[in-house]
Amino acid sequence: MYIPRKFYTVAALCLALGVMGGITSYSVTLYRLFCQVTGANGTTQRAQADTVHVADRMVTVLFDTNVAPGLAWRFVPLQRSVKLRLGQDTLVLFEAQNLSDHAIVGHAAFNVTPEKAGIYFKKIQCFCFNEERLAPGAKVQMPVDFFVDPGLGTDPSTQDVHEITLSYTFFESKRPEQAIDLSRFAVAPADAVAGARDFAATCSGCHALDRAKIGPALAGVVGRVAGSVAGYPYSPALKAAGFTWTPAQLDAWLSGPQVLVPGAEMPMRISDEQTRRDIVAYLKTVRAGS
Ligand code: HEC
Repeated sequence: MYIPRKFYTVAALCLALGVMGGITSYSVTLYRLFCQVTGANGTTQRAQADTVHVADRMVTVLFDTNVAPGLAWRFVPLQRSVKLRLGQDTLVLFEAQNLSDHAIVGHAAFNVTPEKAGIYFKKIQCFCFNEERLAPGAKVQMPVDFFVDPGLGTDPSTQDVHEITLSYTFFESKRPEQAIDLSRFAVAPADAVAGARDFAATCSGCHALDRAKIGPALAGVVGRVAGSVAGYPYSPALKAAGFTWTPAQLDAWLSGPQVLVPGAEMPMRISDEQTRRDIVAYLKTVRAGS
């Protein structure tokens, strides 16, 4: 029987995507399990999201990071804020780097403002549950999986809460012997050449660099205001989004367009973190007018 070559390519691609997706969801599940089993520090607002119903009311969550004096870490949120529905499970990323020449164990303390919203802020996975060791010079991206309980929408005392700030401070750990290694989140450097290949394979059906196809032209998208290419028929949601595309926003967009911009109309997402980073590295290299 003759089987066209193309069949093998498509089959291989499906298999690769399946495996990639499988690995990501697997590791998240493992991490979740790990956190539940270790139960470090008795964090009160830990939860299972699946049981919660998603409400219409939106809330904006802003992220703030601090490092205690003397801890040689850089620690930043990879998104300034996210807008989400009450009850909607959301994944955000923080980046930490050890700036010293020796391993350091840190522990993150967090707080939520306004304080009265704290009981509705539920984390499912968080680096803040553990003592975390970071190797000299190492850089990692740490996920936090959370939702805001729909109870916030029915509690009379929180009717005025439309913005919640989640703030983390990393301190030097007092129990370094209990540390687990942050290398589980280590990031390989982004590869723009691989990103160009991934772009051709997964984006170019809908996007060109210099003209609209099903989606808008993407040359110069890093640094461009979202939803701003003249003449392209954006969804009302993306047109009104108002932010500027940074690498972090692009990463969030590619991991879930409708999570970053509810109502957006791009019908695809990429669950593999490395692929997203490679594609964003490639998009950084394509300037407007190229
Ligand atoms: C099936 C079609 C389709 C595919 C595949 C697709 N996109 Fe899109 N993309 C769209 C549409 C449609 C929009 C406009 C969404 C809206 O208006 O809400 C869009 C919008 C965007 C935007 C926002 C641009 C702006 O001007 O604000 C970016 C960035 C983007 N896509 C990147 C990508 C990348 C990178 C890939 C590949 C990983 C990709 N897209 C794959 C259809 C697609």
